[in-house]
Amino acid sequence: MTQHIGELAPPNRLMLTPGPSSMDPRVYRALATPLVGHLDPWFKGCMDDTQVLLRQIFQTENRLTMPISASGSGGIEASVLNSLEAGDEALICVNGLFSERMAVIASHTPAKVTKVEAPYGKPVDAEDVRRAGKGKKIKIVGLAQGETSSGVLTQLEPFRKVADELGALLIVDAVASLAAVPLHVDRERVDICFSGTQKAISAPPGMSPITVSPRAEEVFRNRKSKVQSWYFDLTTAMNYWGKDRLYHHTPPVSLIYALREAMRIVMEEGLETRWERHRVNQLALIAGIEAMGLELLVKKPTDRLPTVTAVMIPDGIDDAKVRNQLLDEFNIEIAGGLGPLKAKIWRVGLMGYCSQKPYVLLFLAALEKVLLDQGLRVPSGAGVGAAVQSYTHAHSEAATVSR
Ligand SMILES: Cc1ncc(COP(=O)(O)O)c(C=O)c1O
Repeated sequence: MTQHIGELAPPNRLMLTPGPSSMDPRVYRALATPLVGHLDPWFKGCMDDTQVLLRQIFQTENRLTMPISASGSGGIEASVLNSLEAGDEALICVNGLFSERMAVIASHTPAKVTKVEAPYGKPVDAEDVRRAGKGKKIKIVGLAQGETSSGVLTQLEPFRKVADELGALLIVDAVASLAAVPLHVDRERVDICFSGTQKAISAPPGMSPITVSPRAEEVFRNRKSKVQSWYFDLTTAMNYWGKDRLYHHTPPVSLIYALREAMRIVMEEGLETRWERHRVNQLALIAGIEAMGLELLVKKPTDRLPTVTAVMIPDGIDDAKVRNQLLDEFNIEIAGGLGPLKAKIWRVGLMGYCSQKPYVLLFLAALEKVLLDQGLRVPSGAGVGAAVQSYTHAHSEAATVSR
């Protein structure tokens, strides 16, 4: 009972993980500004700003656009629970752990859920979705634009086409892709899109931005039964985030400050410059990884998610030893594989603030040292050399955050 607990002093890690990513100092400063009440007239203006910025980042005019007070999984819950009820049928594209989570959450509703699957490392084929939905009345088609467990990117257009043919809403998990990968919610006619604050937006974890098309709102309004969650019922949550600003629950005020500042940084950089930065840095990382003799899980370059690179662990190399040494010796965190990919891959994240040329070069040098120590013969300097070449061929000025 007398044990003394000291002041908090976390280590200063470089988080090259699939989330959370490291944050810009401006976001820390926003977090430390004075707390106000969630119904304070000043805070209502801060909410307005947050919604304006969210619409810019999602590239949408959707009225129903707000940050849900929950991590990215809360975005999945809200999307699926608000859309589905008894008698409905859902097709969920599953190519990894997070798209599988969407199917699992959908199975908590009384709707019939069919998974359309692809092996980890590949996107689902839209043709398989068309086949699975043929002759049926489908309410939603769901997918992850960025499947973080395997580093796979899914192109949205073919799925929008199939969803149109089936008369279904298209739900897109952009947790690992928003603000890093091209996404135009209105132009691509995504009905419900959600993300997480801790990834390429580089704000703290704990909020899930979501946007809902007028068509999906109409579907919510026409429900015959109550949404199976009070907290995630988007129509009532909008009493607070809508024009009335009525109490619904107490939101994480300081996280909203941080999100607002992180999004200001996104828009100062510009979405297209940011998308390009993520692309250029991943290309350099991949050039370095391959020059070291390592292989990637995702074989087809256009299927690679720019924010998460899945590297095959070479035979005889201990997954945890490498990750622990990177952490202990270089303060760099990377992630291991999940589910069937556990101990088979490393996942290297270059998200938001972490997608920078100096970090790519530092990581490749650190990985070389660690792999040599673990007994793998890596050609000396090959990783950094190949990355430098890659930057020389790309527009390298796009690779670094300019501040
Ligand atoms: C694509 C994707 N969807 C959903 C989630 C779940 O988000 P959270 O862990 O913030 O609940 C993640 C988390 O990594 C993710 O990468």
